[in-house]
Amino acid sequence: MFAVGSVATITGLGGIFKYLTPEGPKVPTSWPKVKVFNVNSMKVMQVYRFEYPLTDTPNNLVRLGSKWQPENGVGPNKDVVAFSAICQHLGCFYGFQPPGTSPPCNSSYVAKFPMGYCCCHGSQYDFLEKAKVIGGPAPFPLPQVLLEVDSNLDIYALAMTPPNIFGHGPGRYDGTSTPQLLYYDFSGGTPVTDATVGTTALA
Ligand code: FES
Repeated sequence: MFAVGSVATITGLGGIFKYLTPEGPKVPTSWPKVKVFNVNSMKVMQVYRFEYPLTDTPNNLVRLGSKWQPENGVGPNKDVVAFSAICQHLGCFYGFQPPGTSPPCNSSYVAKFPMGYCCCHGSQYDFLEKAKVIGGPAPFPLPQVLLEVDSNLDIYALAMTPPNIFGHGPGRYDGTSTPQLLYYDFSGGTPVTDATVGTTALA
């Protein structure tokens, strides 16, 4: 199990954050503001992957639809949210589950609302309540990417809520363990500064 030793203090959206580790700072000391996507280009309940704030820190962006009102949702219907794509238990990629669907590893489980389900060990995250843990062994909620939408409905990433993993964890996947245990050592990336984040829709 990885250790989360960073202490992040957010001083406002887009503001400066600081964190402490025994080794001192390893990553940038300010959050980049980057364009992620456009609300009108998003299909409801479709997950889009983007990297933020570093090039090896993947996140899931999803538009839940006007029926749902997630905390910190943005856009005309306040239904667009983004969370780290990395499970807070041991670093697998969890799957996004629209309501009424079941994860591929557990057909008896049916999501009642938009959520994340990790098939590695069963951690579950509530996308309506800042990805709080609602089941399984994960010790923390998923870090949420704080978003902003402008008058053109362009979506910008501003910052992330803690807990963040900066420079901690088992390091990069080296091909010798299960492929699902992906690397999540955030110290290895470089800051995302370009407006083109490389958002892609996931099947
Ligand atoms: S890595 Fe996700 S539940 Fe263990």
